[in-house]
Amino acid sequence: MGKNQPIGIFDSGLGGLTVARAVKSLLPNEQIIYFGDSAHLPYGDKSAATIQAYSIKICDVLLQHKCKAILIACNSASAAAYDLVKAYVGSKAEVVNVIDPVIYYLDAFFKRRRIGLIGTKQTVGSEIYKRKIEGLNKQITFSALATPLLAPMIEEYFHKNEISNQIIAEYLSQQELSQLDALVLGCTHYPLIKTHIEHFYKGAVEVIDSSEIVAQYLERVLIDRDLISVKQQVGDKFLVSDFTESFQAATTLFFGQNVALEKHVLWE
Ligand code: DGL
Repeated sequence: MGKNQPIGIFDSGLGGLTVARAVKSLLPNEQIIYFGDSAHLPYGDKSAATIQAYSIKICDVLLQHKCKAILIACNSASAAAYDLVKAYVGSKAEVVNVIDPVIYYLDAFFKRRRIGLIGTKQTVGSEIYKRKIEGLNKQITFSALATPLLAPMIEEYFHKNEISNQIIAEYLSQQELSQLDALVLGCTHYPLIKTHIEHFYKGAVEVIDSSEIVAQYLERVLIDRDLISVKQQVGDKFLVSDFTESFQAATTLFFGQNVALEKHVLWE
């Protein structure tokens, strides 16, 4: 592994560009190879075994690009496939998921508090946050709610109107999410509705956007392994397993700017 090799980032689709954006803004010298598995999204409703199979195929692509680190930007894939990916990649690259950085953050700043989580059915059903938070022994009360309508709503640009505010309010009013001190946004898409959620809580609940926390964690890993790029790298790539104009348009939504997608079929 060399300092000037790229960072691979993958997700079920384009939502992971929220994480790529946070990485790029914190580590502008780094070259990024992004892979969005748009042919197989959404991952949030799929079985762990299926997500694992896709994740391994994607890692092959990222390793072919000589990535020094692989960041699993997708919460559903982090929940279902991190251990397998880490074992598969071995010493060829550092592997980082989007769940452990949040657990470290909670460990550092939360004790005897009530934490909620929203995410896909896969992420919530895996109970991975619950197990890891219990493992902290910080007397944190944890509860989670699957909120599967939110990701498609955001993808369809329906996240800035009355209907979306009603859907958000309906979910956040559920019993599972009552009386929280903090809410973890456990899905790639949710940073886009962070302000709406904060507005719902009128500032009474800390809304934790994992994309920034993950970028900082990745920086720490690269510093610790002496893998930070010393000079500006060029050649960011944004690969997708299926291309449509609406995927292309989604780059602006999630990355904040239009970037050219390249089609890279995962299976021949
Ligand atoms: N990227 C997924 C996640 O963060 C959300 C979209 C999907 O279900 O594929 O869990």
